[in-house]
Amino acid sequence: MRTIIVTGSAGLIGSETVKRFARDAARVVGIDNDMRARFFGAEASTRRTRDELVSTVRNYDHRDVDIRDADAVMQLFKEQGNNITAVVHTAAQPSHDWAARDPQVDFGVNANGTLNLLEAARACCPEAPFVFTSTNKVYGDTPNRLRLRELPKRWEIEPGHEYEPGISETMSIDYTKHSLFGASKAAADILVQEYGRYFGMPTACFRGGCLTGPAHAGTELHGFLSYLMICTVTGRPYRVFGYGGKQVRDNIHSYDLVEAFAEFIAAPRAGEVYNIGGSRHSNCSMLEAIELCEQISGRKLTWSYEENNRIGDHIWWISDVRKFQSHYPSWKFQYGLREILDEIHRAVVQTREAA
Ligand SMILES: NC(=O)c1ccc[n+]([C@@H]2O[C@H](COP(=O)([O-])OP(=O)(O)OC[C@H]3O[C@@H](n4cnc5c(N)ncnc54)[C@H](O)[C@@H]3O)[C@@H](O)[C@H]2O)c1
Repeated sequence: MRTIIVTGSAGLIGSETVKRFARDAARVVGIDNDMRARFFGAEASTRRTRDELVSTVRNYDHRDVDIRDADAVMQLFKEQGNNITAVVHTAAQPSHDWAARDPQVDFGVNANGTLNLLEAARACCPEAPFVFTSTNKVYGDTPNRLRLRELPKRWEIEPGHEYEPGISETMSIDYTKHSLFGASKAAADILVQEYGRYFGMPTACFRGGCLTGPAHAGTELHGFLSYLMICTVTGRPYRVFGYGGKQVRDNIHSYDLVEAFAEFIAAPRAGEVYNIGGSRHSNCSMLEAIELCEQISGRKLTWSYEENNRIGDHIWWISDVRKFQSHYPSWKFQYGLREILDEIHRAVVQTREAA
């Protein structure tokens, strides 16, 4: 039976991917060991999502494998053999701050884990499209060297700048401070490209801006909109770090991202790189996001301001998604910022009511 392998299958993007491809009558084998709970504590555990997938998705087969375990990963791929028609790799240690605490584990998961998956794919399913969720942090802090204007609620790029429609894949990934997280993801990103170019495998790196959606287990170190809404709804205090709270992020709903994966899987190319995010279609500054959360929830957020920004944080990031759109013209956004936050709000309220 047609089988898709999804790593990080209980996480935000992984779980959306599982549901999307199970709807297509594919068998989905998910790999997730709930390492998110180890990174960020019990509150960020993705076990609930895993249990929901196991009980509600008929074609779902969950494996509690650690992607750092090369033998276990190879064994799993061998079992599926010729049935594997695509691999979507979303498992990661996703935070800058956490990476600096334990660089060995961060690199082990993000870089070596990706290598283990590429090697297993090369041995067992070299024709299967391989999608990797990379990150805009591969560009390090280079975006922070763009000339920006300070507007009342946000930073903005100078009008007429080549990146005004969004930052494209032409930005250099060299001569920049990546943070250790950015470095481990860049190592993985280059490996994924190389398996496309050197071995001719159909691989792609999707360099995401902020990826979000109602399935995000938001926590202070990861999952910005989700955590902001949790704090607004529950009255928990929120901390804004630096840049006057005017730093800008683009936000893409997990549904739209996974539809982009599906487009690539249906018509793959080798060794591709795409910036992917909410683009000009869906973006906000911290201050704007706070305002929207308050409007939607009808509650006031208690927040404080810390002068020091997070190391590696972007002041202004908007993805230019036109390269992806030119390769896959039928892909369209279904969600804007307001719809994303409405959904997150409903999910936060439901979780509280169920607790
Ligand atoms: N969320 C964002 O804003 C964002 C932005 C850019 C890029 N990305 C990238 O997108 C991908 C998905 O992000 P997400 O928000 O869905 O993350 P997530 O933390 O919600 O999901 C990742 C899942 O991977 C699992 N995992 C971690 N280490 C593992 C290991 N060693 N073995 C098996 N499973 C493991 C975790 O338990 C978790 O369930 C990641 O690669 C991340 O770096 C995310």
